[in-house]
Amino acid sequence: MTRVIAFFNQKGGTAKTTSTLNVAAALAERGRRVLTLDLDPQASLTMATGVDVARLDRSVYDLLLDDDLGIADVANETTIPGVDLVPSHPDLAAAELELLNVLERERQLDYRLRHADLAAWDYVLVDAPPALNIISINILIAVHELIIPIEPHPLSLMVLRRLFETIDRIRRLNPDLRLLGFLPTKVHHSSRLASDMLETLREEFPQLPLLPAIPLSVRGAESTAERTSILHYMPRSSVAAAYREVGAWIEDADAGTGVTAADLGGKGAIHARP
Ligand SMILES: Nc1ncnc2c1ncn2[C@@H]1O[C@H](COP(=O)(O)OP(=O)(O)OP(=O)(O)O)[C@@H](O)[C@H]1O
Ligand SMILES: [Mg+2]
Repeated sequence: MTRVIAFFNQKGGTAKTTSTLNVAAALAERGRRVLTLDLDPQASLTMATGVDVARLDRSVYDLLLDDDLGIADVANETTIPGVDLVPSHPDLAAAELELLNVLERERQLDYRLRHADLAAWDYVLVDAPPALNIISINILIAVHELIIPIEPHPLSLMVLRRLFETIDRIRRLNPDLRLLGFLPTKVHHSSRLASDMLETLREEFPQLPLLPAIPLSVRGAESTAERTSILHYMPRSSVAAAYREVGAWIEDADAGTGVTAADLGGKGAIHARP
């Protein structure tokens, strides 16, 4: 069955987009077929994969608001072999308001994914926006698994409380949602901030695995300018190696890995210390 995984954190700049793209590239290198969904009006993933936003006939905006469109109608090929994309568009910012008039507005993505023939892909990877809005709620209800990219930053742990409260609120609508774990990104090996954050995550969330950490790399952004993945642009870099490890980790993660939203509810929501 096709696994549907979102990279989700309402905090901006935690490498959600970079991770969606490079995990997709890592899984494709392993022979898997991957569909990525750009659910951010910034359309960073769309631009990073070489799709020209200005020339798009249709985007995820149309998918969410037009009942007659299916995933296959909006999927495009990308510059990365084995990786397809449902592109975003700045119009998606307006979807928030337009969805207000739609019945079951928080389930639109779920309906589209349920009614799609996903057999062409082994994985669907969703790049979430840095927000807790109706688009984010659509993602939390539609996906099977969540990975939380988190960067060493004093605010990173503070935003987790709201994140887990939101997951707890949607638990009735998606009780099988599984939190695979935290993906530490932009980790400088000798940084005190990074080691403190990893220690706090282990202490505060012992039931949530830590995925292989992605090292900080000032050259990583160059691959975006080249409209390709870090795995292709710097194949022998430590960042490429780390994303390959994450790809392997995800493939090994079975139904027993992580925590379900229902588990979280049963134990009471997990609360990060502010
Ligand atoms: N391992 C890394 N080392 C250094 N910089 C990185 C790394 N990964 C990502 N970045 C940079 O951090 C910035 C944010 O990354 P990215 O856009 O992937 O985050 P995001 O969570 O998707 O952001 P947003 O919340 O705005 O969608 C970008 O400039 C990106 O190039
Ligand atoms: Mg992003």
